[in-house]
Amino acid sequence: MAVNGRIEELKNAALSAVRGAESTAALEDARVRYLGRSAELTEIKKSIGTLSPDERKEVGRSANLASREIEGALEAKTAQLSAGEREERLRAEAVDVTLPGVPHPRGNLHPSQRIIDEVVDFFVGLGYGVAEGPEAETDYYNFTALGIPPGHPARTMQDTFFLDDGLVLRTHTSPVQVRTMLSQPPPVYVVCPGRTYRRDSDPTHTPMFHQIEGLAVDRGLTLGHLKGTLAAMARHVFGDDVTVRLRPSYFQFTEPSVELDVSCFRCGGSDPNCKVCKGAGWLEMLGAGMVDPGVLEEAGVDPEEYTGFAFGMGPDRMAMAKYGIPDLRLFFEGDLRFLRQF
Ligand code: DAH
Repeated sequence: MAVNGRIEELKNAALSAVRGAESTAALEDARVRYLGRSAELTEIKKSIGTLSPDERKEVGRSANLASREIEGALEAKTAQLSAGEREERLRAEAVDVTLPGVPHPRGNLHPSQRIIDEVVDFFVGLGYGVAEGPEAETDYYNFTALGIPPGHPARTMQDTFFLDDGLVLRTHTSPVQVRTMLSQPPPVYVVCPGRTYRRDSDPTHTPMFHQIEGLAVDRGLTLGHLKGTLAAMARHVFGDDVTVRLRPSYFQFTEPSVELDVSCFRCGGSDPNCKVCKGAGWLEMLGAGMVDPGVLEEAGVDPEEYTGFAFGMGPDRMAMAKYGIPDLRLFFEGDLRFLRQF
């Protein structure tokens, strides 16, 4: 019978296409070609209804057998090919876990940044916020609002870098005090770390340096609160054994004004040849004081109701003392041989 012969041919062609397929994609092509909706075998099955009852039985059976045989071959070949392809992929993606790693050099913190982090962490632990202000500051915030109006002799001591349009490179972080008071009502507790600038360059001065300003404004704050707070801060940075002392000083924006010394963390004052304190027993650490009522008023805070204390310290100098570095200029030359020591 002609149809059965054709079925046999189609089956053989399909089987050899399936067996010869070299990828799952080629296998899918063969499936569509021989068993798909418009495959010749499918057409034959569809036309069975038009045949005589005898032919119908005969052709139907051989068409079904052929289909089943092709499907079986497809299944077997699919399993074989996908196992092979999987193995191929695993081989291609293999990672040699015994290869040595690629070394990733570790960076480290700049000595000034270490001190800044220690000081800021300490104050954050007390509940202080952290505030920042612009490095290009207005003459007003850098000087006038802090009790240093135009023409005041204290201005000449600041070695200011002047910019255009009445701006200066801020000579200290104190202007952030005023900005903070203007931006939030008391109580205020903030520290303000940042870069500051003065025309100065020698072993203990660089044109750019860092300061950390602190400001507390609340009802009933006294110089005692200032001293206790800074003593705890000094112990946090220099060790539990240090003590502090206040010396009278003068700043335009505080009254009274003080300077704070920390007892030498190396010798405690017992070594006349101490490299850290040079035998003095004390290290000068920062300027501070009770915020001048005029400054409070200028910043919109009622000095009858509130008092405040403020302080400004130099983390670069503190790092020099703590790590025994003789020249501040080393800090900012970017020499990795120096910086890697910390
Ligand atoms: N701004 C001062 C300076 O740069 C440091 C200072 C002194 C800050 C006393 C203060 C302060 O807040 O109360 O030398």
